[in-house]
Amino acid sequence: MINKKHNKTPFFTKLKEYGKSKVAPFDVPGHKLGKIENDLIKYIGKRTYLLDSNSPIGLDHLNKPTGVIRDAENLMADACKADKSYFLTNGTTTGILAMIMSVCKANDKIILPRNVHKSVINGLILSGAVPVFIKPNIDQELGIANDISFESVKKAIEENPDAVAVFVINPTYFGVVSDLKKITDYAHENDIIVMADEAHGAQFYFSQKMPLSAMEAGADISATSMHKTAGSFTQSSVILTLGKRINHQRLRATLNMLQSTSPSSLLMASIDVARKTMFFKGEERIAKLLEMADETREKMKDIPGIKVIDKEYIQKKGCFGFDETKIIIKVSELGLSGFEVYQLMKEKYNIQLELAESHIVLAILTIGTSKKDLDRLYNGFKQLSDDYNDVRDKFPKVVFEYMFPETYSRPRDAYHAPKLIVSLDDAVNEVAGESVMIYPPGIPIVIPGEVITQDVIDDIKFYSNKSKALQSDLEDAMITIVDKENWTKFSEED
Ligand SMILES: Cc1ncc(COP(=O)(O)O)c(C=O)c1O
Repeated sequence: MINKKHNKTPFFTKLKEYGKSKVAPFDVPGHKLGKIENDLIKYIGKRTYLLDSNSPIGLDHLNKPTGVIRDAENLMADACKADKSYFLTNGTTTGILAMIMSVCKANDKIILPRNVHKSVINGLILSGAVPVFIKPNIDQELGIANDISFESVKKAIEENPDAVAVFVINPTYFGVVSDLKKITDYAHENDIIVMADEAHGAQFYFSQKMPLSAMEAGADISATSMHKTAGSFTQSSVILTLGKRINHQRLRATLNMLQSTSPSSLLMASIDVARKTMFFKGEERIAKLLEMADETREKMKDIPGIKVIDKEYIQKKGCFGFDETKIIIKVSELGLSGFEVYQLMKEKYNIQLELAESHIVLAILTIGTSKKDLDRLYNGFKQLSDDYNDVRDKFPKVVFEYMFPETYSRPRDAYHAPKLIVSLDDAVNEVAGESVMIYPPGIPIVIPGEVITQDVIDDIKFYSNKSKALQSDLEDAMITIVDKENWTKFSEED
């Protein structure tokens, strides 16, 4: 039965009223509801500025909602079968930091896959938690890290019964999901909190055809990017919680520590309306999208030199499940790297893909994806194949061991340690003082506190040659290491 209360958009409705109310604004923001001139107002119009307010009377406070923000958050929680939701205006990045910092104290153990987003590593630094890393399933053919098996989580819990949390990615950037229900049940039997990174999983809440959402699986807390796959503005996300294990006072205090005291009303309104659309239209639109995605995959399978990944492939690789709104395309048989194809598709056909790895590229589909755009995707790859198939040598096979580096200290200890900046070649066997990653996907090759092996250096060099997206805080070919000689490790309590 469709629940009529979801027709309401409490925050957006009030915000519109406020914008039209002819108020004399002696508060911030300084554009005074669009009463200034600039190029952006000329371009987008004053109406957008009328919706940019900073907690005037009647519009509630994100830091302690008691009015229309609370009402909008309650609807969000209801739509996602959660007990509570918190709107976020600095993305799932803040949600992840807040989840980890509110659940883990310094030196608490948290069990997590190593292929986590950099915000998780930063959560470890800020909280002082000790990571117990699990090796994810590796796809040697595609060169990507996927889900984590139930057995690997069970083993980690058995070996670390004092762990306070298990962290699961639902789904990975590439759409692969773990058996979250089984993991959650086992963690709960052992009195361990389950948190989920659902940066790429907002659509799971709005369609039965999607893998299980964290809340359906019974997880305690999740950070979900409404902006990535549910149609709200960039940076707008939510935290969802279920059950009694989460300390809401601590979560609220942590969020208020991390978030701005001037949250964007536009972002909050965009979550409010995205929830309404997804609630009423998500099921039907996602079903339609999946049909179109299937058709596109089937057609693309006939293009020589490329391989399109489907659910069957993912399951054959032993992974638990797959979000079919992701199209993964292996391109290396064309003799091109994923990084080259990512550039070529934009330059030649004006097609913007989500990300590249050495052998693959990824296209993300949402209810905003049209048949026309999918046809362009197909035609772009067809053309690419016509141009390159059997022209170049095939790319060498993937060598992707994913032996993540040995841990020398907690990420927090290494973060606070005295540092040296050295060339990559001088860093072998030293302890990393920074995270180095390619973005996207933003999964670190090395994190603070890990030992920099020759493999790590080779990986960093490989990616800095192939991808323009290598991110470190430094110039190319340099890296921050811990100055071990001058390092007094933090005490266990810090
Ligand atoms: C797996 C994963 N987790 C978390 C994040 C952070 O999400 P947001 O961009 O909403 O801050 C991202 C962003 O790309 C991500 O890919």
